[in-house]
Amino acid sequence: MQNLNLKNADYLKALRQEKTAKTPIWIMRQAGRYLPEYRKIRAQAGSFMGLCTNPELAAQVTLQPLERFDLDAAIIFSDILTIPDAMGLGLNFKEGEGPIFTHKIKNLEDINNLIIFDPCEKLSYVMEAIKLTKQHLKPSIPLIGFSGSPWTLACYMIQGQSSKDFSEPKKMLYTNPGLLHQLLKLLTQAVTDYLLAQIQSGVDSLMIFDTWGGLLTPHAYEHCSLFYMAQIIQNIKSQYPSMPITLFTKGGGLFLENLFNSGADCVGLDWTIDIKKAREINLNRTALQGNLDPCVLHGTEDQIHQEVSRILSQAGAHPGHIFNLGHGITPEIDPGKVKFLVDLVHSMSAHYHE
Ligand code: CP3
Repeated sequence: MQNLNLKNADYLKALRQEKTAKTPIWIMRQAGRYLPEYRKIRAQAGSFMGLCTNPELAAQVTLQPLERFDLDAAIIFSDILTIPDAMGLGLNFKEGEGPIFTHKIKNLEDINNLIIFDPCEKLSYVMEAIKLTKQHLKPSIPLIGFSGSPWTLACYMIQGQSSKDFSEPKKMLYTNPGLLHQLLKLLTQAVTDYLLAQIQSGVDSLMIFDTWGGLLTPHAYEHCSLFYMAQIIQNIKSQYPSMPITLFTKGGGLFLENLFNSGADCVGLDWTIDIKKAREINLNRTALQGNLDPCVLHGTEDQIHQEVSRILSQAGAHPGHIFNLGHGITPEIDPGKVKFLVDLVHSMSAHYHE
């Protein structure tokens, strides 16, 4: 049972489109390499996966940005690729190159070889990190759990590594759609089980990262990405009807109508669509999260001020806006700019909530 403090947290209120005194803010990848204290713990862990699989250290880096900045939510420190790793694909992060799998999915045999796992066992390190984080997090700050979308996970599993265009999964979509859908179905179950386990471990809201949904045609998006995310939402809501769920499709600006009808409580926007336009299409069906271009943080305080002001005025007075970047913060950003941003959003937004 959530305590009253938490129920009244601005972030959770905004997800329910309830009035808040100011616009809540958190930042995608808020625990990350732009923070010197993160780099220190990361070095201590030896590797990125070493950090993810060490619950004490993962909890510690989850809390780091909240010690520095007046953020309205924490997100558990982990990665979306823990699922394919648990399924036996063998995940490594090469410095400067991103994730690489030892095995990738090419055919039916590869799918049949995937391990069907219990997240409470195989990903117990994530559940432990959640429990530890909740013990140390201020009781008024919600903790976000997350997963990749089935399509985005399938992209990495079929390609075997990061890519700009993910040509391999896209090729499979047109040469062997049956095989692709078999994988997506299996991932839908794995993501459902993983998110349910995160809820049972103590997270207060969920976010699904569909980083590569924007690579698809509208038709393929609906059938390969959104359909499975909507199933996951249904699965979660059948057990936890009031658990708030945010969907974020990068490049999803043209798919907003479908996203707003998915059953999600909140839709994350990247920076390629005006939040005002999104609001007009939205008709108060969901809350909205976003949508500052992360590169704005390279700019001066004046430029940040200008962009924040633009977004807040476009989002307008209706409750249900959670300020965020349109994608993850990058390693070279000055943490001082993040503090400036967080405080600015809080102080400037009060005016819209009178
Ligand atoms: O937001 C947070 O603070 C929570 C932590 C988090 C990470 N990854 C930590 C991370 C979350 C929510 C993710 C999600 C994730 N991981 C996504 C979806 C969101 C997005 O960014 O589109 C994706 C596609 C991944 C896969 C992934 N993980 C890639 C492609 C990379 C390499 C790119 C890079 O930035 O180096 C990662 C590594 C990763 N995940 C880092 C962090 C802090 C950096 C690695 C390091 O510390 O060495």
